[in-house]
Amino acid sequence: GPLRVLVFGAALRAESTNARLASLVARMIADTGVTADLATMRDFDMPPYDGDLEASQGLPEGALALHDRLEQCDAFVISSPEYNASMPGVLKNTIDWVSRVQPQPFKTKHALLVSASPSMVGGNRGLWALRVPLEHLGTRVYPDMFSLAKAHQGFTEDGMLTDSGLQERLAATVAAFLRLVEADVRYVCLQRR
Ligand code: FNR
Repeated sequence: GPLRVLVFGAALRAESTNARLASLVARMIADTGVTADLATMRDFDMPPYDGDLEASQGLPEGALALHDRLEQCDAFVISSPEYNASMPGVLKNTIDWVSRVQPQPFKTKHALLVSASPSMVGGNRGLWALRVPLEHLGTRVYPDMFSLAKAHQGFTEDGMLTDSGLQERLAATVAAFLRLVEADVRYVCLQRR
């Protein structure tokens, strides 16, 4: 069937610039004919990871729901804020819970990481931190990343990037990522024959 990519905005707040960036990436993906499944942290409620809670009640519904959404996809994109030069604790907590579902869904999937921040660096240090748990879990994190600096001024009213050069670079990054995923999914299908 056609490719399906989960696009996940990793902030909780409703006016999140990362949610906006995730929507734009989802639109770019859909423009290439690939199915984009847009989600945000707000869709998946879960408590702080607690081994006692897991032992007594199992995995929270939010973690199971995100696991299912990931399993339905060939690849995923995360748009994450940077908090104190790292990823938000809520995102790490989410990865920790979802990694407890066996078999965990991060393994062998391709991921593209993007970020938005009002700073001049655009949250890129957070993405380098995010690579660590994902690569540990076996995700093939795309080498190229995209970070939107001055994100509070970065979007037009219809959700495009104000800087058309950056908009083109993001579209090119997304397209190159999708070509890699497509080639890999086709290769795996051939091997299974
Ligand atoms: C931040 N912010 C931030 N930004 C950044 O570029 N580097 C950083 O290290 C930090 N650190 C940081 C810590 C904490 C606790 C908060 C709450 C915020 C600012 C952050 O980029 C800003 O709030 C973004 O708007 C968050 O992304 P959303 O919510 O717009 O998606």
